[in-house]
Amino acid sequence: MAAPTLDVHLTDADVRASLRADVLRGLTATPKWLPPKWFYDATGSKLFELITELDEYYPTRTERGLLTEHADEIAALTRAEVLVELGSGSSDKTRLLLSAGTAEGSLRRYVPQDVSPSALTGAMEDLVRDYPELEIHGVVSDFTDTLRSLPAGGRRTVAFLGGTLGNLVPQERAEFLAEIGRTVHAGEFLLLGVGLVVDPAVMVPAYDDAAGVTARFNRNVLSVLNGSLDATFDPESFAHVAVWDDRHEWIEMRLRSSRAQDVRIEALGLDVHFDEGEEMRTEISAKFREESITGELAAAGFVVDRFWTDADRRFAVLAARREG
Ligand code: SAH
Ligand code: TRP
Repeated sequence: MAAPTLDVHLTDADVRASLRADVLRGLTATPKWLPPKWFYDATGSKLFELITELDEYYPTRTERGLLTEHADEIAALTRAEVLVELGSGSSDKTRLLLSAGTAEGSLRRYVPQDVSPSALTGAMEDLVRDYPELEIHGVVSDFTDTLRSLPAGGRRTVAFLGGTLGNLVPQERAEFLAEIGRTVHAGEFLLLGVGLVVDPAVMVPAYDDAAGVTARFNRNVLSVLNGSLDATFDPESFAHVAVWDDRHEWIEMRLRSSRAQDVRIEALGLDVHFDEGEEMRTEISAKFREESITGELAAAGFVVDRFWTDADRRFAVLAARREG
């Protein structure tokens, strides 16, 4: 069994500098907002795993069904020697791709990438045991600024699953897809999992479950700020809000201050006031249509070769080929 490699492109100092910049920008803006990558400390990554098991949260099991059904076809189509996965988290569904790729015979190497070191190292321990024939090379980095430093060599497929593309705002998303387009070579693939626009009565509960796990996940970002920036948030005084924005076609997650309050962010020397009922945006989860995502991928140099969806058209997995 080969020892896995772990590249860390984010030092504690980088993380701190980027958190400080994000929080300063977001909390001094009107309306206030926080960028989503700060959800995923060790607690947040664990809470996200609990979300994926909720009855209301259909994306994970729908995507798993699609991967189960089409993994062999994906392996035959892409013949990837290297599977790079951005925002790989637990790598749980990815196992379907790893098994199909090793059975097909081309796959040699798996490169899971995530901003959460705890999620990544946890996943890698199990993967090296279960896939001794694969070289496992983990990368801790931010996928919005370090794609070019991913290990190169061999015919690649870049997987980006779980609907995480929808967590980027449209401009970030376009830049991100363009950067993937510049990074991969003609004939290589992007394997993308995205949520589709369906009835809000289905979509909203996926982000506002009855057991309150998503609420805990959302509030956890305040605990991250308390721990990392010496802030004084009382997470319990913020209510979780999830709404469907029909114009942008995204779910918007917010935290609503249940009272007027002032929060000190010691590491920034910043005092932030929240009015009673004031809402701060913490996350969007954009949903797509076949035509819209096909167009966005075309703008980044990709042609959609396959578009797989479930019977209810709630989620899609796409194999997009980089044009030469
Ligand atoms: N792909 C997994 C996890 C999805 S949750 C699945 O389908 O279940 C989103 C994942 O993206 C988390 O593991 C989170 O840590 C990671 N992530 C979020 N923002 C990131 C960023 N800017 N750079 C790298 N990883 C990021
Ligand atoms: N990629 C996931 C999604 O958009 C992330 C996610 C699921 C999420 N539930 C959440 C993010 C709740 C914030 C809050 O479906």
